[in-house]
Amino acid sequence: MTENLTPLPELYVSSESAQKLKAEAAELVSWDLTPRQICDLELLMNGGFFPLKGFLGQADYEAVVETMRLADGSLWPMPITLDVSEAFAEKIAPGQDIALRDQEGVILATMTVTDKWSPDKAREAEKVFGADDAAHPAVNYLHNTAGPVYLGGPVTGIQTPVHYDFRGRRDTPNELRARFRKLGWRRVVAFQTRNPLHRAHQELTFRAAREAQANLLIHPVVGMTKPGDVDHFTRVRCYEAVLDKYPAATTTMSLLNLAMRMAGPREAVWHGLIRRNHGCTHFIVGRDHAGPGKNSQGEDFYGPYDAQELFREHQAEIGIEMVDFKHMVYVQERAQYEAADEIEEGATVLNISGTELRRRLREGLEIPEWFSFPEVVRELRRRYPPRSQQGFTVFFTGFSGSGKSTIANALMIKLMEMGDRPVTLLDGDIVRKNLSSELGFSKEHRDLNIRRIGYVASEITKNGGIAICAPIAPYAATRRAVREEIEQYGAFVEVHVATSLEECERRDRKGLYKLAREGKIKEFTGISDPYDVPDAPELRVDTEGLDVDNCAHQVLLKLESMGLIAG
Ligand code: PPS
Repeated sequence: MTENLTPLPELYVSSESAQKLKAEAAELVSWDLTPRQICDLELLMNGGFFPLKGFLGQADYEAVVETMRLADGSLWPMPITLDVSEAFAEKIAPGQDIALRDQEGVILATMTVTDKWSPDKAREAEKVFGADDAAHPAVNYLHNTAGPVYLGGPVTGIQTPVHYDFRGRRDTPNELRARFRKLGWRRVVAFQTRNPLHRAHQELTFRAAREAQANLLIHPVVGMTKPGDVDHFTRVRCYEAVLDKYPAATTTMSLLNLAMRMAGPREAVWHGLIRRNHGCTHFIVGRDHAGPGKNSQGEDFYGPYDAQELFREHQAEIGIEMVDFKHMVYVQERAQYEAADEIEEGATVLNISGTELRRRLREGLEIPEWFSFPEVVRELRRRYPPRSQQGFTVFFTGFSGSGKSTIANALMIKLMEMGDRPVTLLDGDIVRKNLSSELGFSKEHRDLNIRRIGYVASEITKNGGIAICAPIAPYAATRRAVREEIEQYGAFVEVHVATSLEECERRDRKGLYKLAREGKIKEFTGISDPYDVPDAPELRVDTEGLDVDNCAHQVLLKLESMGLIAG
């Protein structure tokens, strides 16, 4: 049998031993795995990360970081480490067994801890990702999400992480090897992707398979990809639509629960090893493979062909052959896709960039069939309806008595009159009664209050409604955090109700300013507590020369200009 199709060692014990081990492991100290660690553990246990036998120990880690190799010299470009908190690490001594649990507490594996150390993260960032720059998603993760201590040691697999979605589309390396054996596929070219497939991708993968005289495996990553990517639910529905476009029985698809690091060249080598483990003989590597985007200076982290070069250098050792990505472009005169380096001079090349695609989706504009299959466009439109049908949040901020609640109420009534989306008002007073009744006005409590408002607003926005928030929200950093949470799902429209403190105090509708001046209310915003004036709100309204109706109307005009409500 060809080597790529023979079964690969896994780290699982037999089901009988697993039962026993599971019972014993209940006594062990447990680590609750993070989403990324669950992805890593799954590929460790099922042989996707062969030859690794567990999370890296210190000697392997140092060697991988410095030389892209394990301590025994085998090629391995990515540190697969179990990062934990200081508090957890204190409880653990080398030699000890620990239980590794998923987020629901299910025991997936045990690990015999052989090493415990505090890594030099800046060095890891420099060596593995090319720069200690937080604009790189994996460097950001390393410094801001990963724990400060690493534990390493061999893993004993008890059970595979549970997936409720697309179960029939997920395969272990050995399952894929068995499938290829059964189908008689001797040469298989894998295509790695974290994006929906458009026609150019279909053309290039089809060509790659033809050139390599191989069958094709579409092998999309559904674990963790680059923040901001199209979610995997939508993507998988798109891939399923594209599968029908290949000649029958030439192509298959399998989902890979990998947590990407966006490490460009090193990542390409890693992807190659993983595909080799999944029984593939060829691997497509494109321009800027697994690129992380721009660094904090606005420049690319890696050269466009660095990944191909590093891969080529190591391909014999990886045990998989690289197929260069052909950059395919649509030639209008010939109404077909052609390799960019083969087109005739003077030909009209059409292209739609990712940014342009997102604009067209947002504005509900045409996406031509030459660019993407109608089934794919339909899925994308379902996920990204035009802005006028998406949920959004209007977030008023300003001093107590500035008029936030009154304008917010008027806006709510006007939006309800239009009637196209459900509206919820999260006014400061309403929230403090229903969500935050135990909170006071310290910085900590105000932040908690605003984060709760942000969470509820983000859920409303995600589900296609309109959330109108009207707290004081005095701290810029907290407002920004809420903005980031909401912008994952829809627009965040910050409205600064810019009534001056003097005017609020003159009005003093609730009599609170007087009490604050007398020292009878402590920590009162503007009097004895800070207020960060918003630098760049979407809108600033001045209530001093305008009536309420007019202020609310200004907000409506802003929403209309942003495409959030139909004109
Ligand atoms: S915050 O800072 O955003 O959490 O505040 P918020 O939830 O909007 O609550 C503000 C309302 O609480 C009343 N109040 C105070 N405001 C500011 N500082 C202090 N110390 C304070 N104590 C009570 C006040 O009536 C605010 O109502 P609005 O609607 O803003 O006038």
